[in-house]
Amino acid sequence: MKSRSTRSGGGSQARQAPRAPGGAAEEPIARLAPQVVPRIAVLGAGGFIGSHLVPALLARPGAGAIDAVDMCLDKLDTRSPLVRRIEARLDAPGLLDDLTARCEVIISLTALCNPALYNTRPLDVIDANYTDLVPLVKLCASRGKRLIHLSTCEVYGRMALDSAGHAMTHMDEDETSLCLGPVHKERWSYAAAKQLLERVIWAHGQHAGLQFTLVRPFNVIGPRMDFIPGVDGEGIPRVLASFVHALLTGDDLILVDGGKQRRSFLCVDEFVDALVRIVDRPLACQGQILNLGNPQNDVTIRTLGRALIAAYRARRPDGPPPRMRPVAASKYYGVGYDDSIVRIPSIAKAERLLDWHPRVRLPAMLPRIIDDYITRYEPLLAALPTGKAVGVGGASR
Ligand code: UGA
Repeated sequence: MKSRSTRSGGGSQARQAPRAPGGAAEEPIARLAPQVVPRIAVLGAGGFIGSHLVPALLARPGAGAIDAVDMCLDKLDTRSPLVRRIEARLDAPGLLDDLTARCEVIISLTALCNPALYNTRPLDVIDANYTDLVPLVKLCASRGKRLIHLSTCEVYGRMALDSAGHAMTHMDEDETSLCLGPVHKERWSYAAAKQLLERVIWAHGQHAGLQFTLVRPFNVIGPRMDFIPGVDGEGIPRVLASFVHALLTGDDLILVDGGKQRRSFLCVDEFVDALVRIVDRPLACQGQILNLGNPQNDVTIRTLGRALIAAYRARRPDGPPPRMRPVAASKYYGVGYDDSIVRIPSIAKAERLLDWHPRVRLPAMLPRIIDDYITRYEPLLAALPTGKAVGVGGASR
């Protein structure tokens, strides 16, 4: 891949990064001269988050060029001349080398982040979330490039505990322990890989001059999330797409272990707004770990199911009412699955450093999400041969 470098300077700008300040004034990109607007690489630009993030980055005043990289960029709906579309795997020869030569900021979104894979394909999960990304960290450190890496709320594990093992109400970036289950519970292969990469990034920041920000997203939802089984993917997607799939196919919504576990849902628009603020506030965010979530939207999975059924029925009032059905986790996901019981973020640090305050409540997010899935998938499901448009409700999946 040819390099179209827009930056001056060579590849040896490693320097001691400034330590994180406690807070910071706004650092608007608009005040930068156009020639120093950083070129940004978005790795994973064709995924759910990437396909929302790239347009949000382009919408900033004075936005610069973006290298949008993914194996498939179909979901990324932009033809902006500022965007260079690169369809490639991260391990394509020379790709990371080119990107870190050309771009000043690397936003790394690639992941295998679907819990159905953690105990069924743990080796792929560990490679995608750790092994394949270590070279990127090293290149960013040695070349003085800024790395914004998306980690996960899963690093906190089953529940929020302080260093003495006492329960905490909220998960705090700098206080909460990381409480993963035993090794035979392969659910935690993902969280362990993510945690180790966090530690590698942190160590490069402390000892090798890496400029970085680590982001821990908490259950971001929105249009274009995941896939619909049998149409554009196979297996069990995350809960939002699983439930919408069941609604579209008339199958039962499956409540794993009864659906008592809780999640705090964040609107994808507010999530990418926070990411854009991180990009534009390099000093405030330097060396920081930031939770991004909405603690006001802490609900059980059963409540999410009810809310999705209501939103779907508002659009499709005909037909039999959708139902929910409990299934044991071991039957649904197989041996080695485990779960987070409660997951509520502390977002005090993100609110302070980013002047960011998520407000969209769960019921307000759902109509647009339902509309998106209906528009994109109803015709495709209808076109499948009879018998193909089955739900995920069987215990074999
Ligand atoms: C996953 C990833 O592991 C996280 O890294 C990521 O941050 C998070 O999604 C996210 O979406 O941001 P998790 O919340 O466990 O974590 O993923 P889901 O598959 O969406 O499951 C949420 C809950 O719903 C789990 O308790 C699961 O057992 C349950 N579930 C899932 C059902 O009850 N029914 C289903 O059909 C699917």
